[in-house]
Amino acid sequence: MFLVTVLFLNTAKTKQELDNTIFQTAGIAQKYNCSLRRLDYMQEQGLMSSVPLGLNLIPIKRALTTTSTAIFVPFTTQELFMAGESLYYGLNALSNNMIMVDRKKLKNPNGLILGTPGSGKSFSAKREITNAFFATQDDIIIGDPEGEYYPLVHALGGQVIHISASSHDYINPMDINMDYSDDDNPLGVKSDFILSLCELIMGARNGIEAEEKSVIDRCLPIVYQKYFEHPVPENMPVLGDLYQCLREQKEVQAQRIATALEIYVNGSLKVFNHRTNVELQNRIVCFDIKDLGKQLKKLGMLIVQDQVWNRVTVNRTACKSTRYFIDEFHLLLKEEQTAAYSVEIWKRFRKWGGIPTGITQNIKDLLSSREIENIFENSDFIYMLNQAAGDRQILAKQLNISPHQLSYVTNSGEGEGLIFYGNTIIPFKDKFDKSLRLYALMTTKLSDLEENRERGDNP
Ligand SMILES: Nc1ncnc2c1ncn2[C@@H]1O[C@H](COP(=O)(O)OP(=O)(O)OP(=O)(O)O)[C@@H](O)[C@H]1O
Ligand SMILES: [Mg+2]
Repeated sequence: MFLVTVLFLNTAKTKQELDNTIFQTAGIAQKYNCSLRRLDYMQEQGLMSSVPLGLNLIPIKRALTTTSTAIFVPFTTQELFMAGESLYYGLNALSNNMIMVDRKKLKNPNGLILGTPGSGKSFSAKREITNAFFATQDDIIIGDPEGEYYPLVHALGGQVIHISASSHDYINPMDINMDYSDDDNPLGVKSDFILSLCELIMGARNGIEAEEKSVIDRCLPIVYQKYFEHPVPENMPVLGDLYQCLREQKEVQAQRIATALEIYVNGSLKVFNHRTNVELQNRIVCFDIKDLGKQLKKLGMLIVQDQVWNRVTVNRTACKSTRYFIDEFHLLLKEEQTAAYSVEIWKRFRKWGGIPTGITQNIKDLLSSREIENIFENSDFIYMLNQAAGDRQILAKQLNISPHQLSYVTNSGEGEGLIFYGNTIIPFKDKFDKSLRLYALMTTKLSDLEENRERGDNP
């Protein structure tokens, strides 16, 4: 048995207002058959007992049994709050407490952000990027097919790389570093990448045959020989060197590949035949591939993924984590080569200190094949915003969410949903203050962007 005192504290600016709130409180209590008593001449004691000092100065008590007392205990919600290098992910929708988590403490830090268009996916990614930038030492890489991250990245002093047929920002698909692979031979993984690249260039339908693979594999050590002897940037090979080397081989297959490469070396699509001329060492790097034409988009995405791999391997040697955000993830999953690369990232990144986050609209994109499904199953962190009806059913089945929990992703507002952290599921909400400059840097709403422009505040 417990002796319990229940106190309600009413405050107001004027006497009139105070009378109103007291009246309202009494009305609510009345509805549940309780009557409230005013603490006349004991208001000070009442106040001191209401503030969290752990004192009860009020002698009025009621005897309650354990069950009746338990309903007053407010700690019945699950919370996610970690100390250390944790980041903010919104407020707990039930208790209004902050959700602070550190993805690095998960079994695997891989993450997904899912939600219908306009539900706030990119927005929450930008918020995480900003938090990670200030609260951690991690490097951040963004794959941005919509060209919407550059205001934020610029404001944080990061490097935006515009890759397009007419741009003068170049990245070299042949870039390699000595730590590129686990074993002593950095060429191992690199030749895998070059093979994927050639496969993509030659058209995926018939793929490339064993003979062609062998020819490419034979050329690579020759092409890289100079660089391995003197690893200085001027010796880094470009696609043109591979092309030359292929032309010098006598097999017809070599000629076939060389001809396919030609348009990327001398022809109209030669953006990728240059040495890297942008700063890839910046703490926050954004690859903007919005203006890459249809011909080059797949290739561009594959090359960006390879650059990320490059960076992650360098960072591992420096004991640094790398956060990789991939917006419009479904674009990557559509192509066989980039999808395979993404699956690889989800499987192996953790060991290299990588923290990948895929952002996509429909869960269906992630379930299109057994291989890709692995990405979904290997993600311990899921930030789920408003979901389309069809997707909700799939998710309920795949993730075992209750109908009640589903209600948090049904017609929810922007920045509201469910957060999955390991096996903890918590509903969250996040109302970002629209008057902040940071909001102006993160929004994609046309009306907001117009307002910024009018104020001359266009980032
Ligand atoms: N947490 C939030 N607080 C306030 N406003 C938000 C929040 N999240 C999103 N918004 C608003 O919603 C708009 C759209 O969000 P966002 O650009 O993230 O959509 P999206 O889910 O990435 O859509 P798409 O799939 O089309 O890329 C933002 O520009 C912003 O105005
Ligand atoms: Mg978006």
